[in-house]
Amino acid sequence: MTLQVADSYKIEIGPISQQHFDWLKGREYSGWIVFADENTVEDCLPLIEAYLPEDTPIIVAPEGELNKNLETCRELWEAMFEAGVGRRWCAICLGGGVLEDMSGFVASTYKRGIDFLQIPTTLLSMVDSSVGGKLGIDFNNVKNSIGVFNDPSGVWIDPMFLKTLPAREIRSGYGEIVKHALIADSGQWDQVKGITDLEAVDWSSIIPPSVNIKREVVLEDPFEKGLRKSLNFGHTIGHAIESYWLETEDRLFHGEAVAAGMMMESWLSTKLESLSGEDLKEITTYLLEIYGHQSVPESAFEQLLTLMRQDKKNEDSRINFTLLSAPGSARVNATAEPEMIVEALKWYNGLG
Ligand SMILES: NC(=O)c1ccc[n+]([C@@H]2O[C@H](COP(=O)([O-])OP(=O)(O)OC[C@H]3O[C@@H](n4cnc5c(N)ncnc54)[C@H](O)[C@@H]3O)[C@@H](O)[C@H]2O)c1
Ligand SMILES: [Zn+2]
Repeated sequence: MTLQVADSYKIEIGPISQQHFDWLKGREYSGWIVFADENTVEDCLPLIEAYLPEDTPIIVAPEGELNKNLETCRELWEAMFEAGVGRRWCAICLGGGVLEDMSGFVASTYKRGIDFLQIPTTLLSMVDSSVGGKLGIDFNNVKNSIGVFNDPSGVWIDPMFLKTLPAREIRSGYGEIVKHALIADSGQWDQVKGITDLEAVDWSSIIPPSVNIKREVVLEDPFEKGLRKSLNFGHTIGHAIESYWLETEDRLFHGEAVAAGMMMESWLSTKLESLSGEDLKEITTYLLEIYGHQSVPESAFEQLLTLMRQDKKNEDSRINFTLLSAPGSARVNATAEPEMIVEALKWYNGLG
């Protein structure tokens, strides 16, 4: 399946084949270089290695969010110089959101920018981070605070890579699929809410509509002036919970925190928007079944509110939310008073 992103590039979803690489050859680059991380070089590179010239330089970055920083960029830029990468080369970025964001940024700034192709290998990067042209790294303890908007030359999404992805990573990325359905596509929500066993999912049918939702949202609002904020559903409270748990022993994965955030923001949607109690029940029952419940200590409420106030999506001192008026329909730029957010946290705790 091919999705065109404006007139600039295509997202191909389906098995990667010789045809893909023939297309790349047709672009007549002076050379190709591969970026991978220490896991994808082992688990994913062998699946496409046969299509690459034997002398293709492979640059391996350390894995994980903690390495999504300037020091790693420096190492990647140095490795590019060492490999003799010139302006007419193409970088093939093979990895999850961390590697894709960072190597895309590195490619976009090397010698004022070379072309790059994204081959996402996690569920999150397939349906979310590889669509929309946002690239960058964490800096000064602020996530994604240095970066650029820049489109790749193409995105190739092949679910075969998911076979080696740990189950908890799959479940985490799946949160974005649920989110896309809830903000924009009630038909997909009807399909998604029937999925209970993530190990038995046919990803080739679930991924394309989800990618398409993200594509349509970013096409309408490439620079995040309004509609793109709908992608923030579940993330105002979710990010705060994710940051809070970073400082504790048991880390929560992004999608797990966002699932809790989506439950609470759905509750807010019944208070501040027109989401029905029935829909709220259906959403929470489903998310609890997939993600379970994580009690939030009352002693953390103040800190969570402080974290929400710092959210970069706020335009003034009020806390910005995307809420649902119904499954499949979102409203951006809603706000809620701190007392009501605390009520949402208490309501969520009561579900456990
Ligand atoms: N650019 C955007 O619009 C956007 C949107 C959402 C998230 N993000 C970013 O995405 C990042 C998170 O991405 P992620 O969840 O993909 O995490 P990740 O890139 O850290 O990957 C998760 C783990 O899985 C490993 N891995 C990747 N593919 C694998 C495979 N096929 N088999 C086995 N192991 C594999 C990785 O090495 C890593 O250890 C965050 O930094 C976030 O800021 C960006
Ligand atoms: Zn997210």
